[in-house]
Amino acid sequence: MSPRNVAVLGATGSIGGSTLDVIARHPGRFRASVLVAHRDTAGLAALCERFRPDLAIVADPAMEADLARRLAAAGVQCDVASGADAVTAAAAGPLCDTVVAAIVGAAGLESTLAAARAGKRLLLANKESIVMAGALLLEALRQGGGDLIPIDSEHNAIFQCLPGGRPDLDKVGVRRLILTASGGPFRGRARADLAGVTPDQACAHPKWSMGRKISVDSATLMNKGLEVIEAHHLFAAPVDAIEVVVHPQSLVHSMVDYVDGSVLAQLGNPDMRTAIACALAWPERIEAGVAPLDLAAHARLDFERPDTDTFRCLALAFAALRAGGDATAILNAANEVAVDAFLAGSLPFLGIAELVERVLEELPAEPVVDVQTLVGRDAQARRTARDVLHRAYC
Ligand SMILES: NC(=O)c1ccc[n+]([C@@H]2O[C@H](COP(=O)([O-])OP(=O)(O)OC[C@H]3O[C@@H](n4cnc5c(N)ncnc54)[C@H](OP(=O)(O)O)[C@@H]3O)[C@@H](O)[C@H]2O)c1
Repeated sequence: MSPRNVAVLGATGSIGGSTLDVIARHPGRFRASVLVAHRDTAGLAALCERFRPDLAIVADPAMEADLARRLAAAGVQCDVASGADAVTAAAAGPLCDTVVAAIVGAAGLESTLAAARAGKRLLLANKESIVMAGALLLEALRQGGGDLIPIDSEHNAIFQCLPGGRPDLDKVGVRRLILTASGGPFRGRARADLAGVTPDQACAHPKWSMGRKISVDSATLMNKGLEVIEAHHLFAAPVDAIEVVVHPQSLVHSMVDYVDGSVLAQLGNPDMRTAIACALAWPERIEAGVAPLDLAAHARLDFERPDTDTFRCLALAFAALRAGGDATAILNAANEVAVDAFLAGSLPFLGIAELVERVLEELPAEPVVDVQTLVGRDAQARRTARDVLHRAYC
């Protein structure tokens, strides 16, 4: 059997690194054929030296010459390209049959859609693309005829707890999807305690090691809000059939509640390699390098309701999902601007939810027509968010 050719979009990131770790454990089974980064040419060149892909891409065209120089110096012979269009073309192109969509933010939308349309096995980490364009992504998948397997740990857990991956929930007797949330680094704090928290404090996640954007989203609970929207699209689940429960140990990755009262859960140590290995090999199981779960050593599994008065981003995400149309794309764009500003020190932590809420108020939802319109609305939401930021905080 020839190995599956895997394009890793976001290879230099946290998910990219975990994916390449799993691939390296199974050299006869998987090959990293395309590696993509944004600007980190040193990181990408080092990965190319180790994995010898057919093609390496930097999304920023200004970095292409630097990447080519580094690869030549290391004696690596592979094609080099740059620019967002090259990323999109590679995701749909002949060098891969599997695409790991692990670019952070809305920048991952076009390549994710392209992989879906081309019928690749799509391993979806880039939750922002489904939050922005859920219906369009599912339509692209239907056209392409490939599989989508979520590698967000919660959705991967639900995928594993459902019969046959992503069935019609009514037909298989599902009552609720229960997403677990760690609660992030500020779980249990009151609003007043959060006024002065710093980016480093927000990024110090108690259980998961992740990129900075998703770490801040975890601290605000916007990450869980984005995941509610993701679950709604991925599993065609009504918004009222999705519940969030805080589970600080992060061992139960999510659950499915069936009408007969059975609740199926997927458990494991908090390590993204489990979900990635599951998605790469599905329906088979392969070793992922993850330590076996020692439940007796952990002793406790706690659950509590989320505090949506303090962590308002979760409530805003539910409200945007209920509003319909492109409200979730507006929410996502405003959040990306807000998180960037917080990480840059120009917006306080509590300002993230305030900014998102103001942008949602200023831009009422419109119907989703096509990708171009959606990208235009994303740009409009970013402009509005910068404008609000400037007026209110600068
Ligand atoms: N980390 C997790 O445990 C986790 C869990 C579930 C879901 N996710 C989702 O997975 C995605 C990636 O998260 P992460 O934590 O791996 O992020 P990360 O560590 O910040 O890595 C982001 C990756 O995306 C690349 N990138 C950024 N902008 C790009 C652009 N415009 N074009 C092409 N590549 C670009 C970066 O390249 P450079 O290195 O060159 O900047 C890097 O390789 C996010 O959507 C996140 O929500 C992550």
